Amino acid sequence: MELFSILLIMVIVATFVLSGFFLSSSWTTTPKTMEHIPGSLGWPAVGESFSFISDFSNPSGIYSFVKERQQRYGKVFKTFALGRYTVFMTGREASKILLTGKDGMVSLNLFYTGQQVLGPTSLLQTSGEAHKRLRRLIAEPLSVDGLKKYFQFINTLAIETLDQWPGRRVLVLEEASTFTLKVIGNMIMSLEPTGEEQEKFRANFKLISSSFASLPLKLPGTAFNRGIKARDRMYAMFNSMISGRRSGKSFQQDFLESLIIKHSKTGDTDDTEDKLTDKQLKDNILTLLVAGHDTTTAALTWFIKFLEENPAVLEQLRKEHLEIQANRKDSANLTWSEVNNMPYTAKVISETLRKATILPWFSRKAAEDFEINGCKIKKGWSVNLDVVSIHHDPEIFPNPEKFDPSRFDAPVKPFSFLGFGSGPRMCPGINLAKLEISIFIHHLVCKYKWTPLEKDDSVQPTLVRMPKNKYPVVVEPL
Ligand code: HEM
Repeated sequence: MELFSILLIMVIVATFVLSGFFLSSSWTTTPKTMEHIPGSLGWPAVGESFSFISDFSNPSGIYSFVKERQQRYGKVFKTFALGRYTVFMTGREASKILLTGKDGMVSLNLFYTGQQVLGPTSLLQTSGEAHKRLRRLIAEPLSVDGLKKYFQFINTLAIETLDQWPGRRVLVLEEASTFTLKVIGNMIMSLEPTGEEQEKFRANFKLISSSFASLPLKLPGTAFNRGIKARDRMYAMFNSMISGRRSGKSFQQDFLESLIIKHSKTGDTDDTEDKLTDKQLKDNILTLLVAGHDTTTAALTWFIKFLEENPAVLEQLRKEHLEIQANRKDSANLTWSEVNNMPYTAKVISETLRKATILPWFSRKAAEDFEINGCKIKKGWSVNLDVVSIHHDPEIFPNPEKFDPSRFDAPVKPFSFLGFGSGPRMCPGINLAKLEISIFIHHLVCKYKWTPLEKDDSVQPTLVRMPKNKYPVVVEPL
């Protein structure tokens, strides 16, 4: 039986690898052009896919694939994994060229599963003018001013979530995940935080999310297949919301409404440039959910973990929040202007994102030949920018393993801190993420203390780096 399972896994992986090979346009380029780059392309057709896949379950995470090869070949190396010729590189120069490179030089490089689940009109799959247009449409509702109307919802939800914490074993990652999903569900489409609709939304979302790092096999029972089906159910939910809004039966002041009123195409004859078809609306709502959920969940969890591991930082942070509370004259509750004036908290957020480097690399696909630091890149190759090394460069961040928010007392050099990325693809959800984290942390440090139940620094086998044990703690009032 055991042998059978091993064989089955090998067959699945081989199919995956081969399908990836033929699905990728990069298979047409010849490895000869890569001769000048150190590294190994592994076995014919399969490349280094087995090591890549097995490093997903390494305790230090998928990044161990990069680390091991950097030790062998240096900071720039080539590989062939999951059907793609890939060059890993790092440094500020590479960061500048890849993230701000002239228009059309690179595009975002999603895994095949992500491409299929998110749909062709997703922001993550567009480039050039189409990408710029989509970014413009989502910029206003995600701006600081646009987010003001969600402040009360987020604040109340943070208080209610934390009220449930004392006296039990709390898995911080699970709680952060529920919190951030309720926030984004409410913000985008006014979903109530409890009830049947929220439950369905959550169940579908979880299936979609776990299909991203799955094998691209659309067979019954596979994670990919379940993800596609959950995506279809989610789209059916969006469809009924969109038609409800259009018929005037329901009206909400949310993200969906603002896109429908200002930017949706009303019929085939409506060919206005700045308008979206229903398909574009749905693909991009899902994109925001997917791009914003795991990242914010991971950031909040690492933030709470790093605080406990660094008592001096916790003390200074708590001081900032207790002072805010003490200076409050009338209302007992946090206000919008207070949440926008938390300078030390902002530095702790940056240091959390530097140290944890939630997205360990940014992946791009070369749309033309170009050169970085003397390394010739050919059209069709994947180029992965290793952000972990940039965030741990001792010349920019001395003693990089130390958790030290004072690094951000002065602005850091351009292209050396990439917590939210940089250039035209810089995270559009930065204000929302900071808002959620600042509100949640305010109530946590003002009212509670927490003790971890395990010492374990392993990370989950996902592309977004999160604590594997979900960071279990017990919580008491201060
Ligand atoms: C702490 C939480 C977050 C972190 C650390 C984070 C990080 C990032 C990073 C590093 C990128 C750039 C990736 C690249 O260049 O390849 C990015 C892009 C993106 N983020 Fe975030 N993000 C967070 C929260 C959010 C939220 C809340 C949303 C949505 C509401 C969001 C939506 C997006 C989208 C749509 C993109 C793609 C932008 C594009 O391709 O133009 N993110 N994020």
